[in-house]
Amino acid sequence: MKHKLVILASGNGSNAQHIAEYFQEKGSASVSLIMSNKRDAYVLERARKLNIPSIAFTWHDLYNSDIVLSRLIAENPSLIVLAGFLWLIPEIIIRQFNGQIINIHPALLPKFGGKGMYGAFVHEAVLAANEKESGITIHLVNEKYDKGDIIFQARCAVLPDDTPDSLAHRIHELEYRHYPEVMEKLLKNKTNPAL
Ligand code: GRF
Repeated sequence: MKHKLVILASGNGSNAQHIAEYFQEKGSASVSLIMSNKRDAYVLERARKLNIPSIAFTWHDLYNSDIVLSRLIAENPSLIVLAGFLWLIPEIIIRQFNGQIINIHPALLPKFGGKGMYGAFVHEAVLAANEKESGITIHLVNEKYDKGDIIFQARCAVLPDDTPDSLAHRIHELEYRHYPEVMEKLLKNKTNPAL
Protein backbone atom coordinates (compact mmCIF):
# COMPACT_ATOMS: atom_id res chain seq x y z
CA MET A 1 0.00 0.00 0.00
CA LYS A 2 1.25 3.45 -0.86
CA HIS A 3 1.00 5.73 2.16
CA LYS A 4 -0.30 9.25 1.80
CA LEU A 5 1.29 12.16 3.62
CA VAL A 6 -0.33 15.54 4.16
CA ILE A 7 2.03 18.41 4.95
CA LEU A 8 1.00 21.54 6.85
CA ALA A 9 3.35 24.50 6.52
CA SER A 10 3.12 28.25 7.13
CA GLY A 11 6.07 29.66 5.25
CA ASN A 12 8.99 28.88 3.02
CA GLY A 13 8.46 25.13 2.81
CA SER A 14 11.97 23.91 2.09
CA ASN A 15 11.32 20.89 4.33
CA ALA A 16 8.05 20.22 2.54
CA GLN A 17 9.88 20.19 -0.78
CA HIS A 18 12.61 17.84 0.50
CA ILE A 19 10.03 15.46 1.91
CA ALA A 20 8.04 15.45 -1.34
CA GLU A 21 11.16 14.84 -3.46
CA TYR A 22 12.46 12.13 -1.13
CA PHE A 23 9.24 10.15 -1.44
CA GLN A 24 8.91 10.83 -5.18
CA GLU A 25 12.25 9.09 -5.53
CA LYS A 26 11.60 6.30 -3.03
CA GLY A 27 8.03 5.60 -4.03
CA SER A 28 7.04 4.09 -0.68
CA ALA A 29 4.73 7.05 0.09
CA SER A 30 3.65 10.25 -1.55
CA VAL A 31 2.79 13.73 -0.43
CA SER A 32 -0.81 13.91 -1.58
CA LEU A 33 -1.69 17.36 -0.24
CA ILE A 34 0.06 20.47 1.09
CA MET A 35 -2.00 22.79 3.28
CA SER A 36 -1.09 26.25 4.49
CA ASN A 37 -2.66 28.80 6.79
CA LYS A 38 -1.11 31.60 4.69
CA ARG A 39 -2.38 32.09 1.19
CA ASP A 40 0.86 33.77 0.06
CA ALA A 41 3.21 31.23 1.69
CA TYR A 42 6.01 30.18 -0.63
CA VAL A 43 5.27 26.55 0.22
CA LEU A 44 2.16 26.83 -1.98
CA GLU A 45 4.32 27.91 -4.92
CA ARG A 46 6.59 24.94 -4.27
CA ALA A 47 3.51 22.67 -4.27
CA ARG A 48 2.49 23.99 -7.70
CA LYS A 49 5.99 23.35 -9.08
CA LEU A 50 5.95 19.83 -7.62
CA ASN A 51 2.47 19.17 -9.03
CA ILE A 52 1.09 18.45 -5.59
CA PRO A 53 -2.46 19.59 -4.77
CA SER A 54 -2.48 22.41 -2.25
CA ILE A 55 -5.00 24.34 -0.17
CA ALA A 56 -4.85 27.55 1.83
CA PHE A 57 -7.16 27.75 4.81
CA THR A 58 -8.17 30.39 7.34
CA TRP A 59 -8.35 30.57 11.13
CA HIS A 60 -12.10 30.04 10.84
CA ASP A 61 -11.58 26.94 8.65
CA LEU A 62 -9.32 25.38 11.29
CA TYR A 63 -10.83 26.45 14.62
CA ASN A 64 -14.46 27.39 14.06
CA SER A 65 -15.61 24.90 11.48
CA ASP A 66 -14.86 21.36 10.36
CA ILE A 67 -13.48 22.46 6.99
CA VAL A 68 -9.87 21.43 7.67
CA LEU A 69 -10.88 18.38 9.71
CA SER A 70 -13.18 17.02 7.04
CA ARG A 71 -10.62 17.66 4.29
CA LEU A 72 -8.08 15.67 6.29
CA ILE A 73 -10.55 12.84 6.91
CA ALA A 74 -11.34 12.73 3.18
CA GLU A 75 -7.64 12.59 2.37
CA ASN A 76 -7.08 9.75 4.85
CA PRO A 77 -3.30 10.21 5.25
CA SER A 78 -1.07 7.81 7.16
CA LEU A 79 0.77 10.78 8.60
CA ILE A 80 0.07 14.49 8.96
CA VAL A 81 3.42 16.21 8.85
CA LEU A 82 3.96 19.67 10.31
CA ALA A 83 6.90 21.40 8.65
CA GLY A 84 7.15 24.96 9.87
CA PHE A 85 3.45 25.16 10.74
CA LEU A 86 2.89 27.89 13.31
CA TRP A 87 -0.67 27.38 14.57
CA LEU A 88 -1.75 24.96 17.27
CA ILE A 89 -3.53 21.86 16.02
CA PRO A 90 -7.06 21.74 17.49
CA GLU A 91 -7.89 18.92 19.85
CA ILE A 92 -10.56 17.49 17.57
CA ILE A 93 -7.94 16.88 14.85
CA ILE A 94 -5.49 15.43 17.37
CA ARG A 95 -8.15 13.01 18.59
CA GLN A 96 -9.13 12.01 15.06
CA PHE A 97 -5.50 11.38 14.03
CA ASN A 98 -4.14 10.16 17.34
CA GLY A 99 -0.42 9.33 17.02
CA GLN A 100 -0.36 10.24 13.34
CA ILE A 101 0.65 13.91 13.55
CA ILE A 102 4.34 14.76 13.77
CA ASN A 103 6.31 17.99 13.99
CA ILE A 104 9.93 19.00 13.62
CA HIS A 105 11.44 21.59 15.94
CA PRO A 106 14.81 23.23 15.21
CA ALA A 107 16.36 22.69 18.67
CA LEU A 108 16.79 20.01 21.30
CA LEU A 109 13.46 19.95 23.11
CA PRO A 110 12.42 20.29 25.89
CA LYS A 111 14.74 23.30 25.76
CA PHE A 112 13.86 26.25 23.51
CA GLY A 113 10.31 25.18 22.72
CA GLY A 114 6.83 26.55 23.30
CA LYS A 115 4.71 29.37 21.98
CA GLY A 116 6.71 32.00 20.08
CA MET A 117 9.72 29.71 19.77
CA TYR A 118 10.02 29.30 16.02
CA GLY A 119 12.41 30.15 13.22
CA ALA A 120 15.17 32.62 14.07
CA PHE A 121 13.81 33.14 17.61
CA VAL A 122 14.88 29.59 18.47
CA HIS A 123 18.42 30.02 17.15
CA GLU A 124 18.78 33.45 18.80
CA ALA A 125 17.76 31.92 22.14
CA VAL A 126 20.21 29.03 21.74
CA LEU A 127 23.07 31.46 21.01
CA ALA A 128 22.07 33.80 23.86
CA ALA A 129 22.16 30.84 26.26
CA ASN A 130 25.72 29.98 25.11
CA GLU A 131 24.72 26.43 24.29
CA LYS A 132 27.51 24.24 22.97
CA GLU A 133 25.14 22.14 20.90
CA SER A 134 21.78 22.35 19.24
CA GLY A 135 19.92 20.11 16.83
CA ILE A 136 16.50 18.92 15.79
CA THR A 137 13.63 17.22 17.55
CA ILE A 138 10.92 15.23 15.79
CA HIS A 139 7.95 14.63 18.05
CA LEU A 140 4.33 13.59 18.13
CA VAL A 141 1.93 16.50 18.22
CA ASN A 142 -0.42 17.00 21.13
CA GLU A 143 -2.55 19.97 22.16
CA LYS A 144 0.43 21.97 23.53
CA TYR A 145 3.21 23.63 21.53
CA ASP A 146 6.27 21.33 21.25
CA LYS A 147 5.18 19.05 24.12
CA GLY A 148 4.33 15.73 22.45
CA ASP A 149 6.41 12.57 22.90
CA ILE A 150 9.85 12.82 21.34
CA ILE A 151 10.48 10.35 18.51
CA PHE A 152 13.95 11.36 17.35
CA GLN A 153 16.70 13.89 17.99
CA ALA A 154 19.92 14.71 16.13
CA ARG A 155 22.61 17.05 17.38
CA CYS A 156 25.07 19.51 15.92
CA ALA A 157 27.73 21.76 17.39
CA VAL A 158 27.10 25.44 18.03
CA LEU A 159 30.29 27.17 16.84
CA PRO A 160 31.82 30.23 18.54
CA ASP A 161 31.21 32.48 15.52
CA ASP A 162 27.70 31.19 14.73
CA THR A 163 24.93 33.64 13.84
CA PRO A 164 21.24 32.70 13.87
CA ASP A 165 21.54 32.26 10.09
CA SER A 166 24.59 30.00 10.11
CA LEU A 167 23.06 27.85 12.86
CA ALA A 168 19.74 27.70 10.98
CA HIS A 169 21.61 26.53 7.90
CA ARG A 170 23.32 23.66 9.78
CA ILE A 171 20.03 22.68 11.38
CA HIS A 172 18.14 22.73 8.07
CA GLU A 173 20.69 20.22 6.74
CA LEU A 174 19.88 17.91 9.66
CA GLU A 175 16.16 18.36 9.02
CA TYR A 176 16.41 17.51 5.32
CA ARG A 177 18.44 14.40 6.11
CA HIS A 178 16.43 13.00 9.01
CA TYR A 179 12.79 14.08 8.75
CA PRO A 180 11.89 11.95 5.69
CA GLU A 181 13.87 8.98 7.05
CA VAL A 182 12.01 9.11 10.36
CA MET A 183 8.70 9.21 8.46
CA GLU A 184 9.71 6.22 6.42
CA LYS A 185 10.48 4.26 9.60
CA LEU A 186 7.15 5.23 11.16
CA LEU A 187 5.34 4.11 8.01
CA LYS A 188 7.17 0.77 7.96
CA ASN A 189 6.12 0.18 11.54
CA LYS A 190 2.53 0.81 10.54
CA THR A 191 2.63 -1.69 7.69
CA ASN A 192 4.54 -4.29 9.66
CA PRO A 193 4.38 -4.02 13.45
CA ALA A 194 7.30 -6.47 13.69
CA LEU A 195 9.73 -3.93 12.15
C1 GRF B 1 12.25 24.47 10.21
O1 GRF B 1 13.45 24.89 10.79
C2 GRF B 1 11.45 23.63 11.17
O2 GRF B 1 12.23 22.97 12.12
C3 GRF B 1 10.61 24.64 11.88
O3 GRF B 1 10.31 25.61 10.92
C4 GRF B 1 11.33 25.64 9.93
C5 GRF B 1 10.64 25.54 8.60
O4 GRF B 1 11.53 25.77 7.54
N1 GRF B 1 9.48 24.01 12.50
P1 GRF B 1 11.04 25.54 6.04
O5 GRF B 1 9.76 26.35 5.87
O6 GRF B 1 10.80 24.08 5.87
O7 GRF B 1 12.14 26.06 5.18
